[in-house]
Order: sequence, then structure tokens, then C-alpha cells
Amino acid sequence: MTDTAALAVTPVQQRTTTRRSYVMCPPEHFAVEYAINPWMDPDEPVDTSVAMQQWLELRRTYQRLGHSVQVRPAHPGLPDMVFAANTGVVIGGRALGARFRAPERAAEAEHFRRWFTECGHREIVMPSRVNEAEGDFAWTGGLLLAGSGFRTEPAAHAEAQEALGVPVVSLQLVDSRFYHLDTALFVLEQGAQPQIAYYPEAFSAGSRRVLERLYPDAVIADEADASCLGLNGVSDGRNVVLPLEATGLAAHLRARGYEPVLLDVSELRKSGGGPKCCTMELHSF
Ligand code: ARG
Repeated sequence: MTDTAALAVTPVQQRTTTRRSYVMCPPEHFAVEYAINPWMDPDEPVDTSVAMQQWLELRRTYQRLGHSVQVRPAHPGLPDMVFAANTGVVIGGRALGARFRAPERAAEAEHFRRWFTECGHREIVMPSRVNEAEGDFAWTGGLLLAGSGFRTEPAAHAEAQEALGVPVVSLQLVDSRFYHLDTALFVLEQGAQPQIAYYPEAFSAGSRRVLERLYPDAVIADEADASCLGLNGVSDGRNVVLPLEATGLAAHLRARGYEPVLLDVSELRKSGGGPKCCTMELHSF
């Protein structure tokens, strides 16, 4: 579909936001001390205070857009804890925790489980298979798109379907730069007519065909968008928070009536992260 055609169907004024409920964790102990994805280089210096400034700006942005942000405490010795998306999938009051592939991150799962139950939420199911939560699961409002290939095990997809009671669609990731689903795909619009943006080359041929069937009008990102982790976006149905460098993707989105909000997340990217990695959404049905 051309951008002009898309614009004719859905003019700018028709994009509506719905108030979101996000969970974030400050990068107090952020560092790159190990390498568990190709973006991480422990020899490259990381400035924790710069990461904190970038994270605070992300949080302020959500608040300015009218969303609720709950902040959970960071713990020393867990430098990746800022990536809150990896610790749970919460849909319609049901919650599934995480089980990390890397031993360096394993303890994060229990911290989230404890915090979540202390907040008064009903008991959370903990997965028995490797499951990196919203890093590899994206809720469209009707389907739970699920990635595997580098982190989350395919068997975790079936486990998620049982625990959450929603249909899961398994997708295969094939490029190690895009090691989590949320580095290659994000949901622009949830609900009756869901819409996504994705980078096709990050997926196997069969998974690409699945995405084409499900989302024939999806926003297709290119290598430049993907290689700045531009697909690690957060959309509220109108405003789309993206890394600063994702200018091509931002232009496509603008032409479709979305409002890109570009933020500097360069320090967090040194760990392979971006806006979405830092953001867990508590989804209602
Ligand atoms: N360094 C972290 C890891 O490799 C980054 C996680 C990013 N989170 C995400 N949802 N993609 O696990």
C-alpha cells in the first residue's frame, strides 16, 4: 500500500490513543558487564548517568502522553534490570513471569514475581521453559505474537497460551542482531483491527508469510530502521515512541497518521535495548 492510499483511508485525526499502564525499572545499576547479544561489548564504556537521563526522559514522555507508569526498584548486580519488558506478560489480569536464558539475568524473574504479588496482583504463573516475556511476546489485542530462535523456547509459546488463555502465533527469528521479537516487530494498534510494524528480514520465510497473511498492510521497516533498533517502539495507538535514529520509519508512520516521538536511547542501546525493552505493559482486554 502506498502512503498516500493509507492516508486516504485513515486520516491523521482518526488515530486515537488509549491510556496505557506501564511498568518500568530505573537503570540505577545499568552496565554492560557481559555479552549476551551482539550489541553488547563489555569493553565499550557505558555511562550510567546518561542511561538514567535517557530513561527519565522516556518515563516523562509516557506521563506527558497521559499514561500511567509504575516504577519498580532496581537491584545491584543486575545491570539489565532496566529492561522491564523481559520480566512478564500481563493480559487481562492474568500474568506469566519469566525464565531467562542467560544465568546473569536469572534473578530478575523472582524480583519481578515478588514485586508483582506485593502490589496485590493475583498469583503469577512462572514458566518452566525459557521465556523472556514481552521481549518475545507482543499482544495485538486478539493474538499473542511470539518469537523464538535466540531466547524464548518454542515450548514456552504453548505454555503462554495455557497460562494466559489467549491464542499464540509462533514466529521464528533468524538474525542474531534481532534476538528478541521486540527488536524486529511492534504493535502499532491493538484491538479489532490490529496493526504492526516489522522488519521482514529478521524472520524465517514461513514466519514472514504468516505476518503477510495476518497483516497485509503492516508498516514494513528497512535495514536502516532495524539497525538502530528502530523496531523497539512503543505505540499507544497514535503516539509512537522510537529511537532518535529511526527517521525513515518515523516518516512512514507520520504518513499513516501516527505521531512519532523520537528519543535518544543511545546508552541503553549499548546493551541491545530501546524504548520497548524498558517498558512492560499491563494489558487489559
Ligand atoms: N542486554 C539485554 C539482554 O540481552 C537486553 C534486553 C533487551 N530487552 C528486550 N526486551 N529486547 O537480555
